[in-house]
Amino acid sequence: MGVSMNVRTAVVPAAGLGTRFLPTTKVVPKELLPVVDTPAIEYVAAEAAQAGAQRLVLVVSPGKESVATYFDPTPDLEAELRGRDKDALLDKVRRAPELIRAEVALQDKPLGLGHAVGCAEPLLDDSDDAVAVLLPDDLVLPAGVLSTMAAVRQRYGGSVLCAFDVPREQVSAYGVFTVDGTEEEDVKRVLGMVEKPAPEAAPSTLAAAGRYLLDRAVFGALHRIVPGAGGELQLTDAIALLIDDGHPVHVVVHRGVRHDLGNPAGLLRASVDFALRDPEMGPELRSWLRDRVE
Ligand code: UTP
Repeated sequence: MGVSMNVRTAVVPAAGLGTRFLPTTKVVPKELLPVVDTPAIEYVAAEAAQAGAQRLVLVVSPGKESVATYFDPTPDLEAELRGRDKDALLDKVRRAPELIRAEVALQDKPLGLGHAVGCAEPLLDDSDDAVAVLLPDDLVLPAGVLSTMAAVRQRYGGSVLCAFDVPREQVSAYGVFTVDGTEEEDVKRVLGMVEKPAPEAAPSTLAAAGRYLLDRAVFGALHRIVPGAGGELQLTDAIALLIDDGHPVHVVVHRGVRHDLGNPAGLLRASVDFALRDPEMGPELRSWLRDRVE
């Protein structure tokens, strides 16, 4: 699978303030909050690795270095678990360091997602003609959409984004695409994008999910953007510049499930969903929930 992906570097912006999880995020980065027992950052790292990426550039702010520390091996803990014959736990603690090589880029101030992605540029080398960007707030299931996006980039060139077809009444929570069809049902050409439109004004029901496969040209565009919505440097504005320049941008419509881990209700829903599928936890939780709801 790795060879089908012409992208070796995945960028994960994780330098935001996480205000929706205050007070916890005074101390604990939102990206380390668990879905059941595994933090969001490990899910996106696994997704990037599965798509063939060889290194993960974690963009963090001063104080959030623990997001990167999470990928360091923990030999003392491993020795302790080995000594206690805790093989299943040992497998769990070794998973993240073995997944992918993690590197850190610092974003000193939360100037916006576009700025955060730009902070990864100095770590790129000549062979990085495109990068994958994964937002750890979005859990996109089943994994594998990045490989589909890489195949679309091979066919059409340029940059490829990911969208979900959402009910019209929900569009105002998302960035929404203006598109033209292609010969492929689930691949659209992107003509533009609007942030959080009113349902009746939305150009489509295709909502952006936090997965991007961006041609290196995006870094040039990131140098040209000015603060936009919320006074932040927006990745969307850089993509809009690329479109204006005639750079091909396509979207893959992903038919699957998406969990928004960026707010407490979404994280809770994802945890319940995962726990219900867990053979050990699931049955008891299911009957407790049924009683509780009644
Ligand atoms: P969000 O706006 O959803 O995250 O950004 P946030 O700002 O941390 O959360 P709230 O709204 O205050 O609760 C989406 C992603 O972009 C990263 C965030 O860490 C998150 O993964 N981000 C955002 C940065 O890395 N830097 C920024 O300046 C802004």
